This record gives sequence, C-alpha cells and structure tokens, in this order.
Amino acid sequence: MRQAIAILDSGVGGLTVAKEVMRQLPQEEIVYFGDTARAPYGPRAAEEVMKFTEQVVDYLLQFRPKMIVIACNTATAIALKRIRLQVDVPVVGVIHPGVRAAIKTTKNGCIGVIGTENTIKSGAYQQALHAISPHIEVVGLACPLLVPLVERRLYHTPEARRVVAESLRPLSGIPMDCLILGCTHYPFLSPFISEVVGPKVALISSADETAREISAILFHRGQLAPPGPPPVHRFFCSGDPAMFQAIALEWLGEQIKVSPVFWQMTRLSSS
Ligand code: DGL
Repeated sequence: MRQAIAILDSGVGGLTVAKEVMRQLPQEEIVYFGDTARAPYGPRAAEEVMKFTEQVVDYLLQFRPKMIVIACNTATAIALKRIRLQVDVPVVGVIHPGVRAAIKTTKNGCIGVIGTENTIKSGAYQQALHAISPHIEVVGLACPLLVPLVERRLYHTPEARRVVAESLRPLSGIPMDCLILGCTHYPFLSPFISEVVGPKVALISSADETAREISAILFHRGQLAPPGPPPVHRFFCSGDPAMFQAIALEWLGEQIKVSPVFWQMTRLSSS
C-alpha cells in the first residue's frame, strides 16, 4: 500500500512546497491540508499557532502518512520541536532547508529574511543560520500584508506590486546578496519581490531544498514510493474550496479536487 506524504500550511502557501515534491518525487502521493479558514497564522499568539498546528497534524494522521511536512515557516518556528515529540513519523520543517540553500548561495555573508511577524519575532532563522555559520549577517523583516494578498488571489495585481514595494522598503540599502522568502506564500509574489530587490539579490525559497530533504529522508529509510501508476493526491482546506482550487490551478498548472472540512471546523474551532 502506498503511504502518503502529509503536507500542511495555514493556507495555500504550502502548495509551493507540494509543487516541488511533485516535481522531484513524482511517484509520491500527497495529502495536503490548508487551514484557510484560520489563515494567517503570522499575527496569532504562539499558543494558538501551536494548538492549530497540533489539530491539523491530528487531522492528517488519520491518513497514516509516512512523513509530515510542516510547509509553513510560522508553524515550523513555533511548533516543529513539539510535533516531533508527538508523532512517530519523521517531521520536516521549512526553515532549515531554506537556511541551507541561503548559505550555499551567499558570497558576501549578508542574508535578508522576510517572513510573518511570528517567524521574524521567533528569531528562528537567525538561530538556524548562526548555528551553521556564526558570522553571517542576518537582517530580518516582517511583512504582515503579504499573506492576505496571496490567500485572496491578488498576487498578480497592481495592488500586490505596491504592497510588496512598500513592505520591502526597509531593506533598501542593505548589502544582502540573497533574500530568504521565509514564508511559503511569498514565492507567489516573487516577480514583484525581485523587482524591488533587483537582479543581484538571489531569492531563496525553501521549497526546492525541502523537497530534497524529503527525498533524502525517504531514501535513507527505504520508504521511497516504488514505481507504479501516477499517485492520486488529496487536498483539504478548512475555508473556501473554490478559492483554494483556483489558486492551486494557477500554481500547480493542474485541476485538483479540494475537499472542504467544514465538519471538522467544530472540532478545530479557534475558541
Ligand atoms: N505560509 C505560512 C508561512 O510560511 C504563512 C503563515 C501565515 O499564515 O501567516 O509562514
């Protein structure tokens, strides 16, 4: 029996990771949960993000996945350690993969990180970068207005371009040579982000490196899916499935079926 890889995010951001997993590991089956009804997680209290992440993991465990991927930087920063203690399958976050990719890329040792308020406030990127390379200069900036633009499917609009330009203004003059997109929603906005920071600053998305980490872990555990018919992925969201589906179609380039989990919302209630 094929065992799926479970991927979760506060919303559609984890699709950036899912897309890379589909590309690098085409035999792997994915079960995805986007907690769109409660996104964004970025401005919420840490205890609430902890609770929501545990609830979503709990929901995904019913599918008996072989691995859990927390494709949300905010939830990784707050909940990764605790979730690892709670489940008996490997749990992968997105911060370390992004950090490794940035360290591989930087030449001048000055790295910018943009993320949600919670991710930047947690200092998780700074710690992870310094754990590997103590002399790296890290400049973090919270960009709270970006996730709602993506969740509302406004990432191609002039409004998005303006909000991105304004949000990133504090980074002007920083001599960084790479910028970590420390939120899995941000790759949706990379054309506008690139426009602001210029061609000399490499944008680092953790999606690619996270998929590589998943691949390496499954290989070492002897758990890579064997060749066979194409996998059937399953997508769930707690909010509007039509919006999720429309965004997924644009990002993944394929029509997917998204099942709403309204019944679950009573259990997942934020109160
Ligand atoms: N994709 C999530 C992240 O990487 C967005 C968090 C949010 O919902 O604010 O942090």
